[in-house]
Amino acid sequence: MATHDPSPGLVGRADELSALQAALARAAGGEPRTVLVGGEAGIGKSRLIGEFAAEANRDGARVLAGGCLELGADGLPFAPFTAALRELVRDLGAGGVAGLLPSGSARELARATRRPCARPDRPRRAQPT
Ligand SMILES: Nc1ncnc2c1ncn2[C@@H]1O[C@H](COP(=O)(O)OP(=O)(O)OP(=O)(O)O)[C@@H](O)[C@H]1O
Ligand SMILES: [Mg+2]
Repeated sequence: MATHDPSPGLVGRADELSALQAALARAAGGEPRTVLVGGEAGIGKSRLIGEFAAEANRDGARVLAGGCLELGADGLPFAPFTAALRELVRDLGAGGVAGLLPSGSARELARATRRPCARPDRPRRAQPT
């Protein structure tokens, strides 16, 4: 995987970027990886992820993003995941996303995103515009 220097204004974070890049390389090799980035408010989590995502994008990885919504004391469960998945449905279309999924998962994804993900081997119904 090619690496680029981070933005000139980014101070440090070489170790954290390397860890994220290593996880991406393993994911690109077919091994799903999850990395949890945690820290105090303002410590630089979003900046780190932004720098990493920009580089991954330049290297050809598909980067999807979602965020948490604060609604009073409660949040919306799975909001970051559904936002990211909706972006993917917008980019690839429902059939395209369904084609990436194991058989039988399209219905679950459609429920999570409230978007129909037709099985690629089935004719798609016309979507309302
Ligand atoms: N390594 C860094 N080098 C230079 N600037 C940084 C670095 N990390 C963070 N910053 C800057 O510090 C500010 C706060 O960083 P950031 O928004 O990433 O924090 P955060 O951890 O995501 O905060 P929050 O928990 O509130 O979401 C931003 O202006 C960001 O650009
Ligand atoms: Mg942040």
